[in-house]
Amino acid sequence: MKRIKIKELLELEPIGKEVLVKGWVRTFRNNQFAALNDGSTLDNIQLVLALDEFEETLTRKINPGTALSARGEVVESKGRGQRIEIKVSKLEVLGESDPEHYPLQPKKHSLEFLRENAHLRFRTNTFGAIFRIRHAAAMAIHRFFDERGFLYLHSPILTSSDAEGAGELFRASTLSAKHPPLTEDNNVDFSQDFFGKEAHLTVSGQLEAELGALALSDVYTFGPTFRAEQSHTTRHLAEFWMIEPEMAFADLNDNMDLAEEMLKYLIQYLVDHCEKDLAFLDNRLFDEEKNKPADQRSPMRLLEKLKFCLENDFERITYTEAFDILRNSKPNKKKKFQYVLEEWGADLQSEHERFLVEKHFKKPVFLYNYPKNIKAFYMRVNEDDKTVAAMDILFPGIGEIIGGSQREERLDVLTSRMEEMKIPEEELSWYLDIRKYGSCPHAGYGLGFERFVQFATGMGNIRDVIPFPRTPGNISF
Ligand code: 4AD
Ligand code: MG
Repeated sequence: MKRIKIKELLELEPIGKEVLVKGWVRTFRNNQFAALNDGSTLDNIQLVLALDEFEETLTRKINPGTALSARGEVVESKGRGQRIEIKVSKLEVLGESDPEHYPLQPKKHSLEFLRENAHLRFRTNTFGAIFRIRHAAAMAIHRFFDERGFLYLHSPILTSSDAEGAGELFRASTLSAKHPPLTEDNNVDFSQDFFGKEAHLTVSGQLEAELGALALSDVYTFGPTFRAEQSHTTRHLAEFWMIEPEMAFADLNDNMDLAEEMLKYLIQYLVDHCEKDLAFLDNRLFDEEKNKPADQRSPMRLLEKLKFCLENDFERITYTEAFDILRNSKPNKKKKFQYVLEEWGADLQSEHERFLVEKHFKKPVFLYNYPKNIKAFYMRVNEDDKTVAAMDILFPGIGEIIGGSQREERLDVLTSRMEEMKIPEEELSWYLDIRKYGSCPHAGYGLGFERFVQFATGMGNIRDVIPFPRTPGNISF
């Protein structure tokens, strides 16, 4: 007999039929009722074991975490809390779980405890829901771009280019850590390393995506990126996944339109496909925040917040407009900000971004046309020669979720920017080539996948939305 997954079983409700289910026990009560979960859905199926039909030597092995195979008839449930259950006729214990030592007891565990037990946390309702939603979000991304004719381009993970300056690099080397070969002037001799030169893990696939876009028109990457920043925040990972679309013949407005359309599409997809898991997380967050002082609670419930994003246009304002709002804001005048804003051109800190999104506009905000001095070399210089065609999207509770720009397609402007920023041309000759041969206006952005999943699940810490988080000092599992 072929096994049926619990999700399908609960949808079909094949009353009177014989089925085979497999999964892990969540709870076992009265030596009679086992709640079985197989991860296909939030819900368990109740297995009913007639009291005299099963040996005690067998039922003794049914504990939280035990893997079971159970066969029996689907019947209407007399108990409350479920519509159907299985009257078990055949039961097999596939893997025992010692209740004395199994770390997941049938009670509420803290997120910190579960992070330390990340190898087991998939087995909880919360993490089951999060990782089903993460999966659905990944599928939705591919669907969104596929429907619009974007090609999925696999940008490299190992790279010798370190010119983007997006963050600190992780070196990738096979040289001896103890006695690396040295050059005459006592530096590590990377010409003897695996690639014949120094290599790193990528911080972004953008530059390669640009090469693709200038031949294939519309492309996107979706892969892991690595940043060795000492950021101990709830928004930063050393290894995170990024989606980077790149469009030829597109400007900053096209870029903003695509980003807004994409985020709404993703949210709508989750609302349509993950109803149960979202409802569960909505309640989880509501319960968690009950104990917090009112000013620390989210202004909206999770589902309300997702719907709000769908129904409202994102605000679009320039850096200069945002700067004026911030400079004249109460917390700035009263010096409540840690970084008080005085002069145009200052980089905005997360406290400023949060003020704009959460206090002032109370909705997602695009900031665009940033001062060129605080942005990357490849962003297109505007006519004022002071700003670049960059854009960030700020989300409530998250801050920056997307960063992007129209790219500098004019070879002379690009090379003089590189000179200003001391980026050697030789290293990026391939990048400059696409400005020499058939250059054209183009634009793109990067969405931090975990920040999006954080927003969609309402989780406060980014470490809880990636299966195995890597942060400074942490690389377990
Ligand atoms: O703003 P960033 O650094 O932009 C780029 O890397 C560009 N190359 C993107 C492009 O134009 N193609 O990063 C993009 C997004 C941020 O907005 C944020 O959501 C996320 O990536 N991000 C991080 N997420 C988790 N942990 C980190 N350390 C992150 N750093 C950036
Ligand atoms: Mg950024």
